[in-house]
Amino acid sequence: VDITSNNVIVTEGISEGIEMVLAALVEKGDEILFPGPTYPPYISYTKFFEGTPVSYETIEDEGWAPNIDDLRSKISPKTRAIVITNPNNPTGSVYNGKMIKEMLDIAGEHDLPVLSDEIYDQLTYEKEFVSTANLSKDVPVVGLNGFSKVYQMTGWRLGYMYFKGEGKQLDDLRMGVEKQCRIRLCANTPVQIAGAAALDGPQDFVKGIVDRLRERRDYSWERLNEIEGISATKPEGAFYIFPKIHDIGTRWKTDMEFVVELLKETGVLIVNGSGFDPVYGKDHARIVFLPPCEELEEAFNCLEQFMKKKQKTGHSHVGHG
Ligand SMILES: Cc1ncc(COP(=O)(O)O)c(C=O)c1O
Repeated sequence: VDITSNNVIVTEGISEGIEMVLAALVEKGDEILFPGPTYPPYISYTKFFEGTPVSYETIEDEGWAPNIDDLRSKISPKTRAIVITNPNNPTGSVYNGKMIKEMLDIAGEHDLPVLSDEIYDQLTYEKEFVSTANLSKDVPVVGLNGFSKVYQMTGWRLGYMYFKGEGKQLDDLRMGVEKQCRIRLCANTPVQIAGAAALDGPQDFVKGIVDRLRERRDYSWERLNEIEGISATKPEGAFYIFPKIHDIGTRWKTDMEFVVELLKETGVLIVNGSGFDPVYGKDHARIVFLPPCEELEEAFNCLEQFMKKKQKTGHSHVGHG
């Protein structure tokens, strides 16, 4: 991305960046458009600043690609920004250049800035990551990135946001963010020095991480699709898989009930999909495939046994009328 360091603000993780940028953007009743499902703080902070979170559909059968028509139909006079999360948490979807251009075009037509969260940018398995700010010609883009995933400095709390574009809209937004930066004084300086060392140091370790994660992704995807009552699309990036649990609505009332029962009976913790979007995330669950395959194997064995047991109980109910 063609920007200078003057256009970069260092934050204590992307999380702080999300809070600042939404604080600067959202007035009561304003709408922020983000992918459904999404990383939950986008929903929480929009609500916190008295805005209305609005999700656009991402399509499971198409690898959770954004539904461009749905995005377009959800723009209203109250929309203040479009959020892109690429690669996506919790679906692992990676957007191609065409999708991003279409989203930028919609933003351009409606004079909206795009917030592009790219924290998993280097963690893609087949597709190349494409930068939103790089593709944008005249749509203002606020890029959000950090050190928590690729550099595994999660607890050190270091991230950054950058502003690409020109015009009053972006200047105002940036001023709103800078005011908040002045209140919190600065991001932890020793950690900033560590972050610079991470960026300046050798990067060949990233390939090792991606290779290990690809193996864990493949293993998780295969195991999940072998379990009756569960199906999952193959994630293309990040380290999450977002399977559909088919018997939610019948055997379990909600995805929350499913994950709580699984936790209580097996000790395996996964996260309910509706927490990532009440509409497009429901009936799903998010699984993190960071652990080595041996650990994943143990967890998937528990999940498989759990599902078999529930299916048996289900059949006996049917059998006894
Ligand atoms: C899409 C996305 N953005 C941001 C974050 C948080 O990043 P940070 O640790 O830099 O606050 C996460 C963490 O899970 C994430 O999935």
